Amino acid sequence: MKVVVSIGGSVLAPDLGSERVRAHADVIEDLAAEGCTVGTVVGGGGVAREYIGAARELGANEIELDDIGIDVTRLNARLLIAALGEQAAPSPPEDYEAAGAAMHRGDIAVMGGVTPGQTTDAVSAALAEYVNADLLVYATSVPGVFSDDPNEVADARRYDELTAGELVDVIAGLEMNAGSSAPVDLLAAKLIERSGVRTIVLDGTEPERIADAVRYGDHDGTDIIPEGADDQMTYWASDER
Ligand code: UTP
Repeated sequence: MKVVVSIGGSVLAPDLGSERVRAHADVIEDLAAEGCTVGTVVGGGGVAREYIGAARELGANEIELDDIGIDVTRLNARLLIAALGEQAAPSPPEDYEAAGAAMHRGDIAVMGGVTPGQTTDAVSAALAEYVNADLLVYATSVPGVFSDDPNEVADARRYDELTAGELVDVIAGLEMNAGSSAPVDLLAAKLIERSGVRTIVLDGTEPERIADAVRYGDHDGTDIIPEGADDQMTYWASDER
């Protein structure tokens, strides 16, 4: 099975502590040892926001700010690479071709951002499309896709299951409300719809949840099921990995 795991920066390194990074690396290593081909994409988290905030005050333009954000995502990727050691490609691939080549060689690819004007949500979906992944997992700090921002709206409803088209509609609605944060952004949702990749959005703060989702399809988040696909992947049903 080929899987792309997207780990938000605030999930991987909320305080730059090594333990969380180590715990995520252990899970990724286990999946690779069980025969999964794994690509990971790491976000920038609070550190990226701080750098971007300071540089904005200093007069940097939006593209320059994005480039700073990309640099921080790659720094975070290097933390995960440090924990994975020789199993990972030694530096964050800077494009999909390099990431795909690393995975093809049998290395774990750990990327950050790629190009200004987007986030690592879209990078993850594009990598999944590029390598023709069986599964894309977003390990976020929100436990799934909600009808409203659960931090803002008390009766926000979590969706157990959405089609990719429904995901696009839900995220477009959320992004209309200024200030509300969606667990996956609209460009990523559109790439998921285009590629038809099976996707799970879950709370990744406990890395074992990522492993259960990849191994068995077990999770408390949201399943994004491409139109026309079975809700059970053959891979889960047959116990093949
Ligand atoms: P993130 O993917 O972490 O963005 O990249 P985010 O969604 O704003 O962060 P979270 O989810 O709250 O942690 C950090 C920043 O890096 C730039 C963007 O400015 C983004 O906000 N970036 C990242 C790019 O410009 N291009 C990329 O491909 C990736």
